[in-house]
Amino acid sequence: MTLQDRPPLDEEAIDAITRLPKAELHLHFEGAAPPSFIRGLAKEKNVDLSGIFNADGSYAYRDFVHFLSVYEAATSVLQTPEDFARLCTAFLEECAANDVVYAETFLSPDFCGGGDVGAWREYLHAIREAAEAAEKANGITLRGIVTCIRHFGPEKAKAAALCAAETAGDWICGFGMGGDENKGKQRDFAYSYDMAREAGLKLTTHAGEWRGPEEVREAVEDLGVERIGHGVRVIGDLATVDMLIEKGVTLEVCPGSNVFLGVFPNLDQHPIDRLRERGVKVTVSTDDPPFFHTTMRREYAALAKTFRWDADVFTELNRTAMAAAFCDEETRAKVLKTIENARTA
Ligand code: HPA
Ligand code: ZN
Repeated sequence: MTLQDRPPLDEEAIDAITRLPKAELHLHFEGAAPPSFIRGLAKEKNVDLSGIFNADGSYAYRDFVHFLSVYEAATSVLQTPEDFARLCTAFLEECAANDVVYAETFLSPDFCGGGDVGAWREYLHAIREAAEAAEKANGITLRGIVTCIRHFGPEKAKAAALCAAETAGDWICGFGMGGDENKGKQRDFAYSYDMAREAGLKLTTHAGEWRGPEEVREAVEDLGVERIGHGVRVIGDLATVDMLIEKGVTLEVCPGSNVFLGVFPNLDQHPIDRLRERGVKVTVSTDDPPFFHTTMRREYAALAKTFRWDADVFTELNRTAMAAAFCDEETRAKVLKTIENARTA
């Protein structure tokens, strides 16, 4: 149904939509850190981070590449497993306040012990303890996707993949890649992706956020991913869009991130609705919420308003997300039940 044929939603309907239980597949662990949390740690550790904040306390950066360097500066105050555990507790509270019931988070061994497997295990242990406590307190389920960082290069990626392979299981259930999409090629990381696949991990990668449809095709063909982070610039070539549909690839779409970073000038011009109408499996996430001044409730409200998506559409998005989630079947079934129950209640 095209946009003009859909009835607009009133404020009450939009508010109810923002309260639906949600599944979020694309959330960078350090990117979920509120600026106040990072400032607090910087103070404790006597690190001067004043250059990365605006006068109003928000993160300050000019563009995507500068964002990545501010991100790494902010991350530099996360120095111990305990720091990561505290951050985990803080951001899961925020997720739960947004009625997120299931989230997958990107964790980089590069930031957790520099790619050393022994150190990585200690970070992971602390993070999992915090996640389990949050699950008991708020009912939110978290799983981890180990990510390599594209602009750190293929050798560092191999160390990250080894960390992933060594800790693959019911909690670390995927392998992915973030960082600067304009550096190198997807296939430069094929060795790491093969290692992760052989360890039983599910695969995703950032593609088609900055580069076009060819990058999305290469992600699928050269790395064999079943999900793509963003992928939205695939809209420039309908043959590649149809390849995604044929192969059943799910897109982890982060509309607020895309608009904030200028991938698209505004939400009206964002292709998520067109991709969905054509039959692509799309889901909705926040990426790095405090960096992009967003939350899952804000994402849902903006999408409901702009594209007149009703509660059925959002429930379908969450079913799609859980079908593509990297977790075990028991967890998938449990979360799906929560999503379905909210509609029949
Ligand atoms: N995109 C790519 N890499 C990243 C991001 C992002 O939004 N956040 C942290 N690493
Ligand atoms: Zn991302």
